[in-house]
Amino acid sequence: MFSDKGMFFNKAGFFNEAGVPGRMGRKVGSTWNILAPAKLNLYLEVLGSRADGFHALETLMVPVRVYDQLFWQGVDTSSSGKGLTLRVRNLLPVASRSDQLLEDLSDNLVLRAARLLAKTAGIVPSGRFDLIKRIPLQAGMGGGSSDAAATLMLANAAWEIGYSQSQLMPLAAQLGSDVPFFLARYFRSRGAAICRGRGELVEPVNRLPQLHFVVAKPEAGLSTAEVFGHLPVRTETSDELTALSHARLSGLISALQSGAIASAACKMTNRLETAAARLAPWLAAMREIFSKTGCVGHFMTGSGSAYVGVMRSATQARRAARRLATINLEAGNLEVENLKDRLKMGSVFATSSC
Ligand code: C5P
Repeated sequence: MFSDKGMFFNKAGFFNEAGVPGRMGRKVGSTWNILAPAKLNLYLEVLGSRADGFHALETLMVPVRVYDQLFWQGVDTSSSGKGLTLRVRNLLPVASRSDQLLEDLSDNLVLRAARLLAKTAGIVPSGRFDLIKRIPLQAGMGGGSSDAAATLMLANAAWEIGYSQSQLMPLAAQLGSDVPFFLARYFRSRGAAICRGRGELVEPVNRLPQLHFVVAKPEAGLSTAEVFGHLPVRTETSDELTALSHARLSGLISALQSGAIASAACKMTNRLETAAARLAPWLAAMREIFSKTGCVGHFMTGSGSAYVGVMRSATQARRAARRLATINLEAGNLEVENLKDRLKMGSVFATSSC
């Protein structure tokens, strides 16, 4: 099942891309490791509410080069009997906020994913996961979901379960709406995809150019459930919304595929941003700040609170990140009307699509 270099093979004979360490799950000595990328939503439309309490979505997501890293080290079950444990090393810049959210590890998506896989496969593994967190929390960048997908991939390899993509996908969907997107990415070289349903129906999108972004994560996070709960009421029917959304998304993808980045960036929208603005008055300030970065388009990603500017090049993105990081973001220093709250920036960084 494994090559002598520790690259992962599934039963269908699929193997890791050469030169991308940790992408599929890789063994070095007795430790397995895998990279879990973040994502950005370049487009998100809500098409209606569903009977299961979720919302029907159409979204275009791209993985970006900000990674959590997951390690697994197994122990002999007979001697330890400790089951599965998790240690988290937090490399996030806003320590206080992140530490709070990472305190209770028992319900962490890494352990939930590992337990679900073990139960489904009928095995009782024992050992420790170590998770290095770099993806901001409550940012709409899919950190927890990506960790869950990475856990399924890593444990599937390390525990020699050998499930195929189609066997792992239903487990991913049980763990969260964004988890299938991240899981599917491990089985392709590029990872952009349209996600529909509640997010779990993944349709790969090819031939997108590499995109460059500047991302600002304010200290305040936003809860996904709360943002969905503040969506404005729409007058259009679900069918009308679906037809409109298809047309808009096709236009965006065509513009991207033809390399018309500025025209594409104007078509990048996020319906959840309207909902988030009701909860977070500082979003107005964020929009104002980004309109002055020289970006070709800007929007909130997923359910927030990270805000994204599309830049023409990696150099421009780095420059914009440096400039944004030095702005004093206290309300009094911003020329923004209707800013009721203080906008405190947690972190600002440049990144690119994978
Ligand atoms: O699936 P996930 O755990 O990421 O969803 C978190 C919350 O976001 C859900 O409990 C639900 O309130 C909301 N949600 C939704 N419709 C979706 C995805 C998420 O209403 N398609």
